Amino acid sequence: MKVFIVYCHPSEDSFTKHMCDAFIKGVTDAGNDYVISDLYKMHFDPVMKEQEYLRDAYYRTEPEPADDVLAEHAKINAADAIAFIYPVFWTEAPAMLVGWFDRVWTYGFAYGNKTMKVLDKAIILCSAGNPIERLEKTGLLDSMKKVMLGDRLIDRAKKMDFIVFDSTSREFELRNQNWDKNLQKAYEIGLNLFK
Ligand SMILES: Cc1cc2nc3c(=O)[nH]c(=O)nc-3n(C[C@H](O)[C@H](O)[C@H](O)COP(=O)(O)O)c2cc1C
Repeated sequence: MKVFIVYCHPSEDSFTKHMCDAFIKGVTDAGNDYVISDLYKMHFDPVMKEQEYLRDAYYRTEPEPADDVLAEHAKINAADAIAFIYPVFWTEAPAMLVGWFDRVWTYGFAYGNKTMKVLDKAIILCSAGNPIERLEKTGLLDSMKKVMLGDRLIDRAKKMDFIVFDSTSREFELRNQNWDKNLQKAYEIGLNLFK
């Protein structure tokens, strides 16, 4: 089985990078394959162009999407599962990943007369600086889940999961205290992805 990982973090000096590596180790230890789009490393262009806007806004399938968008479509359709791995920035994914959705979820692929495969599984692993209790109490966790699961993923995967690694701010001692436990958790999520 193959998982397509969409990874987005500006720095390797991050919990998120370690979490991604642990998840990948779990995936490969389980005998599965992966392909990764490391959006910062590949300098993915997240900015929708006017031509792309007009194509989507007028529900057109012409012109063909740009080559970098077609490459992402091919990775999705060759995968069984998709994993999004990122830090929460202002209650959202980083802008580069938001722009990835703007450009990659094109009309005729992700909606309309879709050519996007319905994936077996979609998983979101995100790190959040705030404690989970604060995210729950303020309703911000629900907002993040709603946008990712209820809009961007919705019926595009048969099963989906949104997992938050919370209290990862350098402000909290819990970041260090939970480090190994959290990486073990990410590893096990990778290991059991298709179970
Ligand atoms: C610009 C920026 C915005 C952030 N916004 C949020 C936020 O809205 N909610 C939250 O819980 N954490 C927020 N954080 C904290 C990140 O999620 C935090 O950097 C990350 O979880 C820690 O992991 P890292 O070492 O991988 O960066 C923000 C961090 C940055 C740099």
